[in-house]
Amino acid sequence: MRIVVDLTRCQGYAQCVFLAPEVFQLHGEEGLLYSSAVPDDQLERVRQAAAACPVQAILLGEE
Ligand code: F3S
Repeated sequence: MRIVVDLTRCQGYAQCVFLAPEVFQLHGEEGLLYSSAVPDDQLERVRQAAAACPVQAILLGEE
């Protein structure tokens, strides 16, 4: 699975960081950083993060 975060939508709510910290990180001035290729063992966490984002900024796509 691949992910794209629409950074124009992201407001830094950090639900994704809380739910999948191995994929999403918030870095001060740089804002949200993430790995676009999701390891298999993180799929469920990333799905939960996408569902939890209050502004639906996380978009999921199949490889
Ligand atoms: Fe941004 Fe949504 Fe995560 S607003 S920090 S992508 S929960």
